[in-house]
Amino acid sequence: MSSEAKNRVLSGMRPTGRLHLGHYHGVLKNWVKLQHEYDCYFFVADWHALTTHYEDPKVIRDSVLDMVIDWLAAGVNPANAKLFIQSGVPQHAELHLLLSMVTPLGWLERVPSYKDQQEKLRERDLATYGFLGYPLLQSADILIYKAGSVPVGEDQVAHVELTREVARRFNHLYGREPDFEEKVDTAIRKMGKKNAKLYRKLRKDYQEKGDQEALQVARALLDGQGNLALGDRERLWGYLEGGGRIILPEPAALLTPAAKMPGLDGQKMSKSYGNTIALRDDPGDIEQKLRTMPTDPARARRSDPGDPARCPVFPLHEVYSDEARKQWVREGCTTAGIGCLECKQPVIEAILAELAPIRERALEFAQDPQLVRNILREGGEAARDVAEETMDEVRAAIGLNY
Ligand code: TRP
Ligand code: SF4
Repeated sequence: MSSEAKNRVLSGMRPTGRLHLGHYHGVLKNWVKLQHEYDCYFFVADWHALTTHYEDPKVIRDSVLDMVIDWLAAGVNPANAKLFIQSGVPQHAELHLLLSMVTPLGWLERVPSYKDQQEKLRERDLATYGFLGYPLLQSADILIYKAGSVPVGEDQVAHVELTREVARRFNHLYGREPDFEEKVDTAIRKMGKKNAKLYRKLRKDYQEKGDQEALQVARALLDGQGNLALGDRERLWGYLEGGGRIILPEPAALLTPAAKMPGLDGQKMSKSYGNTIALRDDPGDIEQKLRTMPTDPARARRSDPGDPARCPVFPLHEVYSDEARKQWVREGCTTAGIGCLECKQPVIEAILAELAPIRERALEFAQDPQLVRNILREGGEAARDVAEETMDEVRAAIGLNY
């Protein structure tokens, strides 16, 4: 992996509805943090949404801008991350097509989400070519930016794994230029006498003695060579391990800590369970949802003691309350010392306080959709530049540069 790839992060989200607190705690807070640490690319995966919603694409169209508004409201900052729409970068589709040539059908059929989703979404006909290719399109999304890290949840790890295999196969098939050794030689000489000698020695130490440290040092040496063209750097990177040129570096999954955000019924917050609080829900509605959410059924009357372990409110305290307040709940609940509304009050206040600035920012962006479109346009331009650069290399590697 070259240093450039290590520092680039890419992630996408399907536009299929309003975002809720589960997205905020599970994904967006992480993106906001990552944008300060990496060169981040975040995109709206509208083509991916189309693989399951091809019969009713209106929801996609209606969700794209709102979703990006929710990202911005949550603190994703276009000054720190490129934001764009997948279908605005047609190079994703071109790479997807070329990758499809080298991807065995069995690799796609074996991706766990393929059968899982088909069974889960029985009301949709997902026996389509596009749906089978879902994870390969995702591979193209990732590889076209040579992203080093892909922040995803557990359910997407298999897709990143497939991406690695496809990249490896692609590099194996097309990374061997006929004049590879010659080009490597020229590139090594560009580093200057001293560094060239050091590079050759480190490579030898790694190849002959399996010296991992030599490999690391050699990679660091390459990273420090500002005057090497990208193609040469990748050749020398590949040459270290003996193979050909690495055209598409393998990404790593950056596993997002499992979203702990519970919904209004104690299950994980999710649109399909109908237990969500949307980021832009009206504060009055949020309060109402929380006041009426179920509690431990044992507390039919105020004087009945309860058990926080059997109550969906307590998981919310786990997110929003410190130890002292959780102790207050345990004590008050099991002794019927507090009422359920009293118990819910601090959670209601914490959620309203958390969402107030998000809602306010969202409403501002919603009033200026042109600003949001401009952000997406600029992000799209930057993304296309990088994507086209990769496609140039990819086309050349296959020989499609007539
Ligand atoms: N499949 C992802 C999801 O459902 C969305 C996605 C599409 C994605 N392309 C991606 C995520 C590339 C990470 C990287 O959540
Ligand atoms: Fe749930 Fe709190 Fe009521 Fe106990 S007091 S049942 S934890 S809402």
